Amino acid sequence: MMAIELDDAGFAALTDKIARERAFGCASYKEKCLRRRIAVRMRARGVHRFSDYAALLDRDAVEYERLLDTLTINVTKLFRNWSAFDAVARQVVPILWDGATRPIRVWSAGCSSGEEPYSLAVLFHRHAEARGQTADGSRVQVLASDIDRASLDAARQGHFSEAAFADTPGDLRRRYFSTRSPFEIAPEIRPLVSFERRDLIVDPPPGGMHLIVCRNVLIYFDRITQETLFQRFHDALAPGGFLLLGKVETLLGPTRSLFSAVDPRERIFRRR
Ligand SMILES: C[S@@+](CC[C@H](N)C(=O)[O-])C[C@H]1O[C@@H](n2cnc3c(N)ncnc32)[C@H](O)[C@@H]1O
Repeated sequence: MMAIELDDAGFAALTDKIARERAFGCASYKEKCLRRRIAVRMRARGVHRFSDYAALLDRDAVEYERLLDTLTINVTKLFRNWSAFDAVARQVVPILWDGATRPIRVWSAGCSSGEEPYSLAVLFHRHAEARGQTADGSRVQVLASDIDRASLDAARQGHFSEAAFADTPGDLRRRYFSTRSPFEIAPEIRPLVSFERRDLIVDPPPGGMHLIVCRNVLIYFDRITQETLFQRFHDALAPGGFLLLGKVETLLGPTRSLFSAVDPRERIFRRR
């Protein structure tokens, strides 16, 4: 494998350039993670010096887009880690649905190509349907946001490949997705989900949320940024609102006192 130079000044100049030109807040991401992702693109283009790669970005707009795509890491699945969705279905959805006096507001922060927010909407729809009730946009609203415009465009399409279903139980797949490729989300789920571009680092979070789901996003941020975001999630939640994190993510430092653990294994917390 081609070695990438270990020039800290060159690396800093490159990440400053990306932050300045593309408003991608490199400074908040873990350096190790940024280095690894940038190296993927540099190897792909046969470049081993950061300054040469910066020059390449200046003359090749397509490479710049590829780099940003690589930095944002959009891997996802429908009902990713099913046990977490199952836990939300059992421990969160009934509390929110049965006690709701206003529309339930859910925020999927870092939603990638939409698998996560559609999966969340399905949980509420299924819960309502089992009670002979209707989950429409007046009862539940899932706001889905991401920094990556291309992912959001794909998300709005609501089409999924076979690979996206690896974690999806058969009954949910049959009920909520078309049977032919490209597998399409059921029409009754679409109006429950809206998509918006938001950068978690710079944009203020939306308020009055009953459930915030932020999975496999915070791992890329440094500790201080993670703590800031946990504080913001706390403020964005209505009292008693829930927070679901990814399997390898957890609350850090003083922000632990802002939430109580509902299901620590599945990373479900509740605003104190
Ligand atoms: C690995 S995906 C996680 C998708 C989904 N939450 C899941 O767990 O399957 C990480 C997502 O975070 C988004 N992301 C990275 N930095 C972000 C930022 N500063 N603001 C908003 N989204 C960001 C990426 O664009 C990407 O779609």
